[in-house]
Parts: sequence; structure tokens; C-alpha cells
Amino acid sequence: MDSQLAKGPSLTIAVIGSGYVGLIAAVCFAEIGHSVICVDSDREKVEALQAGEVPIYEDQLPELLTRHRGRGLVFSTDLLAAARKAQVIFIAVGTPQSPTGEADLSYVEACVREIASELHEYKVVVEKSTVPVLTNQWISRTLRFNGAKDENFDVISNPEFLREGTAIEDFLYPDRIVVGADTEPARALLRQVYQPLIDGSYYFRPDHLPGPRDLRAGVCYLETSAKSAELIKHASNAFLAMKISFINAVSNICELVGTDVQEVAIGMGSDSRIGSRFLNAGIGYGGSCFPKDVRAFYKIAESIGYDFDLLRAVETINENQRLSFMKKLRSALWTLKGKHIGVLGLAFKGGTDDIRESPAIGVVKSLLAEGCRVSAYDPAAMEKAHALLPADESLRYASDEFDAARDAHALLVVTEWPQFASLDLDRLHQAMRYPVILDGRNLYDPKQMAAAGFHYYSMGRPLAEPSLRVHAGAE
Ligand code: NAD
Ligand code: UGA
Repeated sequence: MDSQLAKGPSLTIAVIGSGYVGLIAAVCFAEIGHSVICVDSDREKVEALQAGEVPIYEDQLPELLTRHRGRGLVFSTDLLAAARKAQVIFIAVGTPQSPTGEADLSYVEACVREIASELHEYKVVVEKSTVPVLTNQWISRTLRFNGAKDENFDVISNPEFLREGTAIEDFLYPDRIVVGADTEPARALLRQVYQPLIDGSYYFRPDHLPGPRDLRAGVCYLETSAKSAELIKHASNAFLAMKISFINAVSNICELVGTDVQEVAIGMGSDSRIGSRFLNAGIGYGGSCFPKDVRAFYKIAESIGYDFDLLRAVETINENQRLSFMKKLRSALWTLKGKHIGVLGLAFKGGTDDIRESPAIGVVKSLLAEGCRVSAYDPAAMEKAHALLPADESLRYASDEFDAARDAHALLVVTEWPQFASLDLDRLHQAMRYPVILDGRNLYDPKQMAAAGFHYYSMGRPLAEPSLRVHAGAE
């Protein structure tokens, strides 16, 4: 393939916000051949990025930063200069949950107000942050109120579907790219942004990052109205959260009748209309997105006159999973005060150091509130957890899984790190005071755990216990 064609036409892109989404988008836009200015108002973060640090734990991010930093990708705190230079401006700032449940759009509004003064020629402003439907109209209105002329901008929605832990792979090998734009010039510019992925030329490059599937025929690229794209993002996250809550509700029924939710999930997931992904029962979903997005979707629906009741049930089931996990621990250990509990996992899921809305952190807090002593271990999230919950006489950060289990009355598995699923069970058994394991992520086979001598509690599956040893001379 012609190398010029393979590189595609280069644009100057500004990405505002260098958090999980902004940083990944910026480095991936550089990877597909654009010139990118990644802006953040957090000076320390920008200086660290300029100095070569990698602020988040994310597979392949260090390699891509090394490849593009100082070349196709620069970091800056100067939002106005970036907006002036760029043809396309991606907004990727946070949209956290406000105290009343709606998405807090003040960070979005703050940067929109600033960039209005720099829209002297046609540019496209892109919502990359997750925002409620109709935000697009508010952004346009705010730009106008702050002096931007209609002919100089379009506001479009290009929601991001990456998952933490596999963010780069998800960005470069997406299931789909959704662009919600209401004018042709905006659609044309966004096609140019994603051209190397749309025509598949990126995947022909000898230095392309390998991914999970062959996309040389091009990615699925969907153009919609701006409102539809905004809704696609909220509806997708809410649907995935609903899928998790659904299987968690089923797992409760499995426990009541004494069967295995994993068998049920395999049976359900084999129906291609249902699909097997996101049917893992556990202690519930967490993270910086599902909890806030489910609530924000409920709230925006309510504000426009629809009571999206189903989403309340999704939240309630999710909250109850953690409570039922704590109840299981009580049933396993009788009383909790003064007990020593090992905890495996602090991140909200495996493969990331992100602890925002982490169910694991919730469990640690509950244990401390019940008067337990906790030894916790996570392969990546210890530093962030330590900043939130400093070590003291009740909480110790362990050096590895076995150190966390040492002398514990019970070991809890609360994050689905792959390495937690293949521990040396004999060594674990020897390290612990009581052979009690509560697996909030169903990483082990109950029979295998019973055979290894553990009292093994998991989610939606029967309790597995070691067979009672019959001593010589016993009746
Ligand atoms: P984050 O908190 O990690 O990063 C946001 C960044 O924006 C911060 O570094 C902050 O300093 C910066 N910022 C805030 N105001 C600014 C301003 N006025 N100018 C410049 N920088 C500013 O957030 P995140 O996890 O990257 O999420 C960003 C958005 O993307 C949210 O709407 C989120 O819902 C959405 N999203 C996140 C993920 C994810 O996996 N984290 C995936 C898809 C979508
Ligand atoms: C999720 C979505 O998967 C992304 O598509 C989306 O872009 C992102 O939110 C976002 O908008 O921020 P992420 O939060 O990184 O991505 O992580 P997921 O892999 O979706 O997991 C979310 C939570 O659900 C985790 O706590 C995980 O442990 C839990 N989960 C996931 C389950 O309990 N069971 C499952 O079967 C799957």
C-alpha cells in the first residue's frame, strides 16, 4: 500500500482534558497520523506528561507515548493557543455526578466558554466526554453567547466506548465509531479524523499496533444525528450495567435454589441475541462511568418527562450485591470485630489502577467500619488506594497475594485481576489462619477450592467445603 495513503491526511487536533479518555484519544490520534495538542488545566499533570511520565496504568500506553511525545503529540496548559491552532477540538473533560445525580457539566461549560473566543474560522467542537442528550444544543448556545459566529463552528457528538485496562486496543480496534453530526462539513471533517481506521489503512502499516481482530476492511463507522449519538452513549452504558445487574439478580435466585449462576450464564449467553459478555455475576459494577452514567441517564429522562424506572432497579440490585457479600462474610466468620481479613483487589476492575467508585474500596471501608483488621493487595492500584485510605493499625498494604493472606481469618477476592485466578492454593492454605475464601468475582472452580481444603463462598454458586476427614477409629 502507498505509504502516503497509509498515513492519511493529517489534521491538527486539540484534545481538552488529559485524563483516561483525553490522553488515550490524544495518543491514538497521533498514532493514526494527526498532529495533536493535548491540553489540561492541571499544571502538575501536564508537566509530568511533558517530562515523560505515564500518569495512568494502561496497557501499551507507555510505548505509544514514547513513540509520539514531542513529535505528533504535545502537552500544554494553554487551551486558547490549542483551540486557535486546531481544526477539530475534542472536549474530554470530566462529567462527574453532581450531588443531585445529574451529570455535572460545569467543566464542559468552562472550556466551551474559553474556546469561543478562538473560533475565527470554521472548526468542529466535539463532545468526547459522556454528556446527556441535548448537551450539544447547550454547547452551541454557549459558544454563541460568548461571541462565536454560527458559520465558524459546528458542535458534534463522538462518544467514547473504550474500557479502562484495554483502552488503547478499544480505541484503535473499536466495535464501532459513532459520529453524531447535523451538518455535512462537520461529518466530512470527522471522516478525515478517522480515515485511517475507516479505510483500514492504519492496519496495513508495518508499525501498527496489533489488535484483537482484522480490521483491514475498515471499522464500522456510524453517522447519526447529534442527539442520537448522545443517547447511544448513555443507552449503551446503561444497557451494559443492566446486563450485569440482571445476572446478579439471577445469581441471587441461583443461591436460593442451590444452583450455579455460571451454568445459567453460559446457557443464556449461548443465545447470540443475548451474548455471553457482561454476564459475570459478582459484587457489582463500579468505576467512574457506569454508576454516574446510569444515574445521569435516569435524571435526564426524568427532566424531559420520562420515568426510567428500570434504571432505579439496576442501581438497587448493584448496591445490594455488596451488602450480600458482607452478609456472606458474616455467615462464614460468625462475628467480624477484631478478625483479620485479607483483601485481593482495590481497583474497580482488573487491568487498571483506577479506584473511582470501586466496589473493592467499598468492601474495605465496610470491613474497617465493622472493626476488622485488613491486609490489602492490588497489582496496580495500591498507590491510589493509599492516598484515599492511608495505612494505619487497622489497614495494611501487603506486598503480594500471599502476604495479604498471611494469618487471615478469611481472604476476599474483590477485583477480577487475571493473576488472582491462578494462585498456588497450597501456599495460600498454609499462609491463612482459617481456610476461608470469599470470591466476589467467581474466579475459581468451587470443586477445586474444596479439594484444596478451603471453605469457598462465591456469588450465585453453592458453598463449597472440604470433605470432612474421617479419622482412623472414628465411628
Ligand atoms: P478524568 O477525570 O480522568 O480526566 C478529566 C481531565 O480533564 C482531568 O485531567 C482534568 O484536569 C481535565 N480538565 C477539567 N477541566 C478542564 C479544563 N477546563 N481545561 C482543561 N482540562 C480540564 O476523566 P475521564 O475518566 O478521562 O473521563 C472524561 C469523560 O469521558 C467523562 O465524561 C467520562 O464519562 C467519559 N468517558 C470515560 C471513560 C473511562 O473509561 N474513563 C470511557 C468513556 C467515556
Ligand atoms: C465501561 C464500558 O464498558 C465502556 O464501553 C465505556 O466506554 C466506559 O464504561 C465509560 O463510559 O467510561 P469500564 O468502566 O472501563 O468501561 O469497565 P467495564 O469493563 O465496563 O467494567 C465496569 C464494571 O462492571 C467493573 O466494576 C466490572 O468489574 C463490572 N463487571 C463487568 C461485572 O461486574 N460483570 C461483568 O460481566 C462485566
